[in-house]
Amino acid sequence: MSSHSTLRPLFACALVLVFTACGTAPGVPKPGPEVPRPDQVLVFATLYSQNCAACHGAEGKLGAAISLANPVYVAAAGVANIQRVTAGGVPGTMMPPFATAAGGMLTPQQIDILAQGIVTAWGNAGELQGQTLPSYTNTATGDPAQGQKSFATFCSRCHRADSLTDPAYLSLISNQGLRSIIIAGEPQQGMPDWRSCLTGAGARAMTEQEITDIVAWLASKRPPNPRQP
Ligand code: HEC
Ligand code: HEC
Repeated sequence: MSSHSTLRPLFACALVLVFTACGTAPGVPKPGPEVPRPDQVLVFATLYSQNCAACHGAEGKLGAAISLANPVYVAAAGVANIQRVTAGGVPGTMMPPFATAAGGMLTPQQIDILAQGIVTAWGNAGELQGQTLPSYTNTATGDPAQGQKSFATFCSRCHRADSLTDPAYLSLISNQGLRSIIIAGEPQQGMPDWRSCLTGAGARAMTEQEITDIVAWLASKRPPNPRQP
């Protein structure tokens, strides 16, 4: 019993020492070579997992937001668009701006590493060699009435119209976001790209105009949102 009464004050002393020695505020990482400052992280996999994986999925797929690990997406968007969106975000959606210049936390060099890394790790230029992809951005005027018909032709075998025209869904996705998914599909989730939404005897790729019209029809169902581009 006497050993207890001498140990107790010793233990209290040790605790005081421990807390004094670790005298940094909780949550502040200690400087040192093993913990690089956030703006010193220059490895694609680390930058991606720390900043993007929560929404775009651990390996660039199966996240809540569009899969980036999709060669068709990478080919359609190209490195310049991937870089621009990563830096500036998409106003009115969950996609935040990452550039320090736009209020984010990543340097121009880090954004460059991310965009180049997505293309290198997840692109596959060979797979689409010789094919003409639809334009990434919309260049024409869409016809919503035609779009409704094209939706029935190309999309309704998998999607009920009312799930994609749900105002809550549409208020969180931009027209470009819709267009990108229609062009690139979600291969890991079973959504074909623009070439193979239509199967069977009359199977063919969608035309540029059909893509534009479907986006125009979906957009016509979106509730007014002043923040949406
Ligand atoms: C909080 C969720 C979230 C995080 C974190 C996030 N994104 Fe996004 N991202 C989105 C959403 C949602 C969209 C679709 C926006 C739209 O509707 O156009 C998007 C769109 C994009 C697009 C454009 C897709 C297209 O249509 O061409 C790129 C590129 C992109 N994100 C890259 C990144 C990168 C790189 C990171 C990490 C540095 C990142 N995102 C982090 C949610 C997120
Ligand atoms: C062969 C079935 C199939 C066809 C055809 C198809 N989709 Fe999809 N689509 C899917 C699956 C599976 C997903 C992923 C799961 C989900 O989000 O519903 C998806 C996802 C989407 C998403 C993203 C939904 C989200 O939750 O973010 C959009 C937008 C979309 N599809 C639009 C279309 C449009 C427009 C067409 C017609 C041009 C189309 N799809 C054709 C199966 C299909």
